[in-house]
Amino acid sequence: MRLQDKVVIITGGGAGVGRATAIRFAMEGAKVVIADINGVAADETVSMIQRSGGQALAMTADVGKVEQCEAVVQAAVKRFGKVDILINNAGLPSSYSQGTVHERWDLGIDQTLSSAYRMSHAAMEHLLAHHNGAIVNICSIAGTKMGTDPAWYAAAKAGLTGLTRSQAYVYGKRGLRSNSLCLGVTATQRTQRYQEDPAMRAAVEARLPVGRLGRPEEIANVALFLASDEASFVTGQVIIADGGHTIA
Ligand SMILES: NC(=O)c1ccc[n+]([C@@H]2O[C@H](COP(=O)([O-])OP(=O)(O)OC[C@H]3O[C@@H](n4cnc5c(N)ncnc54)[C@H](O)[C@@H]3O)[C@@H](O)[C@H]2O)c1
Repeated sequence: MRLQDKVVIITGGGAGVGRATAIRFAMEGAKVVIADINGVAADETVSMIQRSGGQALAMTADVGKVEQCEAVVQAAVKRFGKVDILINNAGLPSSYSQGTVHERWDLGIDQTLSSAYRMSHAAMEHLLAHHNGAIVNICSIAGTKMGTDPAWYAAAKAGLTGLTRSQAYVYGKRGLRSNSLCLGVTATQRTQRYQEDPAMRAAVEARLPVGRLGRPEEIANVALFLASDEASFVTGQVIIADGGHTIA
């Protein structure tokens, strides 16, 4: 039970990496608040956790809206009394194609980068309250080592690593740790087209030293380490979980 009695907020916990992280954290004793724009998906994650005997709360929330971020934190504190850990996982998919390039840039930066600042700001007083808070910002190798299209996605994820270092620097002496967890290609709904098209999937897997896509549960394992007290001397870092993609 590596997160016994910790209270965790996970944005985008209704699917993919966020859901796998919510389930894993609950198995380790955490009380989990799932904040997702898709309330039905958030409810499903909560049901999965409760069926296994865990404690969880679903919140329908858009991390693009500051009042909704604040409402998530208030609901977490009301239900579970505190907030120890924040996983900033929600963001706009890089495949998003509506509007002009300028509209996509603004929306992408807002939903993927500013959203993490918004959630962190809303939760900060609680994360600092017990001198042992942790933030994990879910980033991407698209923001660190890869040349990536679209530009907004690369810039937003790179920006998240800057936010991470700032949080670690500014709040470190008050007990907060913040780390970036950068993913490679992971099998979730947003990479469905890679998974369903055999030729595309084979091409992606051929580039990966491990020879396969990542599983959300494998990302959850790394998030668990970073969020837990086992990582008590790890802060401000960029941790990559990509099956070796960036060394190939
Ligand atoms: N899957 C990959 O290959 C991959 C690679 C690199 C980085 N990532 C990053 O991992 C994170 C999770 O990705 P995933 O593949 O699990 O995605 P996913 O699409 O499977 O799930 C994302 C979840 O976030 C929710 N969401 C979207 N916008 C939201 C908003 N504005 N407010 C609240 N919730 C919102 C969705 O409803 C969904 O439940 C993202 O930040 C993504 O950029 C994923």
